[in-house]
Amino acid sequence: MTDVAFRLNGALVRIESCAPTTTLLDYLRETRGLCGTKEGCNEGDCGACTVMVTDNAGSRALNACILFLPQLDGKAVRSVEGIGPDHPVQHAMIDHHASQCGFCTPGFIVSMATNHLNGRTDHETTLAGNLCRCTGYAPILRAARAAEIAPIPDHMHHDAAFILDQIPSGGSGGAEAPPFIRPKTTDELAIWYLKNPDATLVAGATDVGLWVTKQLRNLPKIAFLNGISDLAQITDQGAHLRIGAGVTIADLCTTMTRYHPSFANLLRRYASEQVRNAATIGGNIANGSPIGDAPPALIALGAILHLRRGDQTRDMPIEDFFIQYRQQDRAEGEFVTGVTIPKSAPNLRCYKVSKRFDQDISAVMGGFDLRIDAGKITHARIAFGGMAGTPKRALGVEGALIGQTWELATVQRAMGYFAQDYQPLSDMRASAQYRQNVAENLLLRYFHDLAGVPISVKEVTL
Ligand code: FAD
Ligand code: FES
Ligand code: FES
Repeated sequence: MTDVAFRLNGALVRIESCAPTTTLLDYLRETRGLCGTKEGCNEGDCGACTVMVTDNAGSRALNACILFLPQLDGKAVRSVEGIGPDHPVQHAMIDHHASQCGFCTPGFIVSMATNHLNGRTDHETTLAGNLCRCTGYAPILRAARAAEIAPIPDHMHHDAAFILDQIPSGGSGGAEAPPFIRPKTTDELAIWYLKNPDATLVAGATDVGLWVTKQLRNLPKIAFLNGISDLAQITDQGAHLRIGAGVTIADLCTTMTRYHPSFANLLRRYASEQVRNAATIGGNIANGSPIGDAPPALIALGAILHLRRGDQTRDMPIEDFFIQYRQQDRAEGEFVTGVTIPKSAPNLRCYKVSKRFDQDISAVMGGFDLRIDAGKITHARIAFGGMAGTPKRALGVEGALIGQTWELATVQRAMGYFAQDYQPLSDMRASAQYRQNVAENLLLRYFHDLAGVPISVKEVTL
């Protein structure tokens, strides 16, 4: 029986008895002998393993090291071998002396070929998830620019036609591996998960992938969520948007550009292109990380979280979901179906502070949304990541602002309340004192930001 079927470099692959946590990287290198795809970090950080994956939504660059084979069901995959030696980005890399030891080069080639196919020219953004330790990025960027005008080779267009209609909805896993399902609807997932509450849900696998590749964990039963199309929709509900749990960070970023540009700018700094293409908003909320980027922004927006268990659904303000460090208000067999946010919040600002601009986890992430009527603050929602064991509202600061005049003296007084709201930790990303100072100063920055004072930070072109 076929457990998983996809196209690889143009040819159909059917895998029987597929161990569901086999990564595409291991499959390519160890089973298929396609060693062009490199293993650098094995945790989604370096891009040496980048492959192109095509489905109905188009072609995307993904990291093969944290991509499990069942996630590819029905799709088309192109490794560097399938891009081929005659692709214009290959010639451009040679012409611009953009390769030295060559270890990172296949990953760059696949990212560049995917961007070339998609007509993307924002190379500093799209290549930020490909790390090179030798050449320096200038010649690589020159090569990417030089290839922009070259025609797309015919074979790069073929994958869209390869998407399979008939895809298996799960697999036996074989004698030594656990069974898995790949439901096609939320209803199917709800019924199965109620009966199998000990299963692991896998959405984009940008967290779960590392449990396997770094922590060597065995997962007893798995439901892969990326085949559930109704979970991956963004629905216009008049004054609100309902965002399905399966919407990727990349797709959310695109939509937020229109409604909440500051949120979009934050999402643009979330990990790398490859990770944003895989990671979902549902995974970012459900994992309950105190340093996840989306939750503080969603709390500031007053988002409502939607959960489902069997036939039962419930909704809650998203901040109530995060109970304490890594403990969320989610019952056995219950899962996140989505989140609803207002379409309009012109004063929403999201500030991510991390050591690197791209591809870094936040030390502190602040989401701010104030409403000011006739000079008075009538509404304040402020939330932070990196300041407590959960994403958390700054209730004391909000209280010090509401009803007051929107002026510098009010802001300076309110800054004193951060010490009541948060007792942050010191860790490798930042000291407690640094975090406290940054949080206070981000409120000051917000004041100047709303006043239109230019702030000297790197501007992002979306
Ligand atoms: P998965 O890994 O599939 O799942 C994560 C958890 O959520 C699991 O416990 C899973 O069972 C559960 N889950 C998934 N979907 C649901 C659901 N619908 N209902 C209930 N439970 C569910 N995060 C940031 O916030 N900012 C960053 O800058 C950032 N950078 C990263 C860089 C790298 C290199 C990597 C590997 C990760 C990074 N992350 C970052 C973390 C990660 O990308 C996010 O937490 C991501 O959103 C997880 O989503 P996913 O779909 O990949 O989740
Ligand atoms: Fe580094 Fe996959 S090996 S991202
Ligand atoms: Fe050596 Fe990039 S050329 S790592």
